[in-house]
Amino acid sequence: MRTRIAAGRNMVASLALVLLLVICQSAAAQQPSSVNPTNSAVQEDRLLQEFKTIQGRGTIPDVKSYTIEQPAGRDWRHFHEVTLRWIGAIALLGILVVLVAFYLVRGMVRLESGRLGVTIVRFNAAERFVHWMTAICFIVLAISGLNVTFGKRLLLPLMTPEAFTAWSEWAKYAHNYLSFPFTLGVVLIFLMWVGGNIPNRVDLEWLKRGGGIIGHDQPPAERFNAGQKMIYWIVVLGGAAVAVSGYLLIFPFYGTDIETMQAAGMVHGIVAMLFIAAMLAHIYIGTIGMEGAFEAMGQGTVDINWAKEHHSLWLEEERRGAGAGQSRQGPVATPGE
Ligand code: HEM
Repeated sequence: MRTRIAAGRNMVASLALVLLLVICQSAAAQQPSSVNPTNSAVQEDRLLQEFKTIQGRGTIPDVKSYTIEQPAGRDWRHFHEVTLRWIGAIALLGILVVLVAFYLVRGMVRLESGRLGVTIVRFNAAERFVHWMTAICFIVLAISGLNVTFGKRLLLPLMTPEAFTAWSEWAKYAHNYLSFPFTLGVVLIFLMWVGGNIPNRVDLEWLKRGGGIIGHDQPPAERFNAGQKMIYWIVVLGGAAVAVSGYLLIFPFYGTDIETMQAAGMVHGIVAMLFIAAMLAHIYIGTIGMEGAFEAMGQGTVDINWAKEHHSLWLEEERRGAGAGQSRQGPVATPGE
């Protein structure tokens, strides 16, 4: 009897051992460390390496969606996740470093002859409205666009996923809808100021003499100097490039295929980064970089001495126009308060 009980115990123990071994083996099979190199997922990865594309069949009408992976898609993802971030970081941090260094070395460009206390109209109300409308749209577009490039990396770790989602959703709405007044602003800027922004010989001379910004010279300039003309063409051409590429992205696959969409995304991202860097330089010179410059776009008037130092040919022309009763912008000079 005892031997039978002992045999039964041995059998139960053996069964338990076998069961334990089976459980351990199946658990081990689920561990990533014991990936079977011949299983189907690994073979798919090899197939992808060889054929570069994963494509299947579907039931929805959008045939494009049947392609799940393709080489250009991976290149684009790498561009978006890595290359564009580098371009953006170098362009934006680079210009900030240059501006801070320039400010520390040169300081603010001062009004050498002081203020006369008599002002002249530089930009009328319509011009200022268009400028500020475009500028405000640009700033919102820049911040919301940078969120697409850098937000996941820089902001998400600082906030909850829900807060980041809500912010990104609103930023995206702002980016899409403000694109329309921004584009209108760029078109109006082009039409309003194209006459004064055609490069000529005066600009060469102005550049050769450092524009009064590098050094303390005061080379003659018309209504817009060579530096301002550069900014003007960056706004017009850069604005056109981000608008065209941006609308291709907002309205996907209207006359575009996947390659054109990816190219539009790349053009948009690169131009946007360089555009923001250029505008940072523009904002610098219009604020802390040059005494009296902000007033031109703030109040619309500048001190006569400022006009003499920075736009002497324009001042002469305005005075001639006023003398002949043809001032383009109303009263030319008024005593300051
Ligand atoms: C008409 C004007 C514009 C339109 C229609 C437009 C449209 C778009 C669209 C649809 C996207 C893709 C967003 C996404 O992937 O969810 C985008 C991304 C972006 N936009 Fe704009 N945009 C315009 C102007 C601007 C301006 C003026 C700037 C810069 C100041 C800018 C900067 C960016 C940036 C940095 C991105 C992210 C690029 C990336 O990471 O791939 N955009 N834009």
